[in-house]
Amino acid sequence: MSTTSMHPATSASQNQPADQSQSPALPYARRRDQLVGSVIDASTTVLAQYDHDIVKFGMGAPAPDMLPAADFARIAAQVFSPENFTYGETKGEPVLIDALHEYLTSTDQIPPEQQGNRDRLLITSGGMQGLDLGFKLFVTPGDLVACESPTYTNGSATAMSYEAEILEIPVDEEGMQIDALVDHTRRTGRAPKVIYTVPTFQNPAGVTMSLPRRERLLEFAHRHRSVIIEDNPYGMLRFEGESLPALSDLSPNDPLIFGVRTFSKFVAPGLRVGWIDVDPEVRELAVNAKQTMDSCAPVPNQHLIARWLQEGGADSHVEVLRKAYRERKVAMSEGLARLFPGEVRATDPDGGFFLWVTFEDESINTEDLMTTALEEGVAYIPGPAFSPAGNFSNALRLCFASAAPDRIDDGLQRLRRAVDRYLAER
Ligand SMILES: Cc1ncc(COP(=O)(O)O)c(C=O)c1O
Repeated sequence: MSTTSMHPATSASQNQPADQSQSPALPYARRRDQLVGSVIDASTTVLAQYDHDIVKFGMGAPAPDMLPAADFARIAAQVFSPENFTYGETKGEPVLIDALHEYLTSTDQIPPEQQGNRDRLLITSGGMQGLDLGFKLFVTPGDLVACESPTYTNGSATAMSYEAEILEIPVDEEGMQIDALVDHTRRTGRAPKVIYTVPTFQNPAGVTMSLPRRERLLEFAHRHRSVIIEDNPYGMLRFEGESLPALSDLSPNDPLIFGVRTFSKFVAPGLRVGWIDVDPEVRELAVNAKQTMDSCAPVPNQHLIARWLQEGGADSHVEVLRKAYRERKVAMSEGLARLFPGEVRATDPDGGFFLWVTFEDESINTEDLMTTALEEGVAYIPGPAFSPAGNFSNALRLCFASAAPDRIDDGLQRLRRAVDRYLAER
């Protein structure tokens, strides 16, 4: 999808601070320039400024109708009690660690070699904190961090906040192109210290790394002692095809694999609860690191999720999600084919939340198109938001999880109108 590209640890900020020309510069830390912000997260604020109806294909969030809201209301009445509104243990509430471990074991999400070992799990404040902990523990300023291209830039931005140098490795239908990683390393004599990957139902492309590439990635990491941050928020949301083993299944108890997971995509993002699955020694350090951030993840929310898991709520809920997301993905793929015949290429994921759409007309700039799209009442995230170098100007990410099929159709018709207007007016 692009060529390998590299960015020094000094790239410019995307979100420029307010003009301070009247007052002397503040004595910021050097990493200030590396706090590039998130176009993805900022889209929530952008949308709040509009009061007309907008079909939201932007943020990767489950729609309100996909949340187990009735269960939550009932369980909250039981567990939102005074003793659960205090500080909790940094590693997480034991009741949640137990319930999570049991759920992951019963759904084959932990390799047999790791089962029974609760010392690998640490409850985080969402997947984002898992990423922060990973990069904080393994990135020294100037270290090379490889990521996919396109990538989930909240991940690469986190690496940059620790002054990493970012190397973008192209992605195709089989995920990260490991050949490009190997070639770059051979050419420069410098292997990445950390490899950041979303191997399953990648954000933003929706693609899944093939088994041979997973094996080659592990081989590469072992040869160079690179840490792999395996970010897997969508893996359990497969609605088509055969499951592939996670990197941690292929290499159980591997201290080089730092697993980042979250409840955001299959329970609710606003609860801000996730977990990491890492070597116990790494977990001890992660506890220390987390203590400098927030002491503990939200305690009432941990109890809410624990009780929901104990009741078996996840099993039936995940089935509901898979069925709904399959319908929504089909609606979006068919709608794109019908409304943009021959004009776009779109990925065809077997799970997760996203389609990655590329306009054949390379002169279409999806950042420029965005204004017209919002006026027409549809939101997406422009392609350059998924590349630290700002590549993919003629691509965009659509989230199919957030709207029912008829609303998806409506949103795509609005996008069609926006593109027609944009092409006529430019
Ligand atoms: C690939 C990836 N990693 C991490 C996250 C962050 O998860 P959370 O919302 O739990 O912090 C997301 C959310 O969109 C994601 O898509």
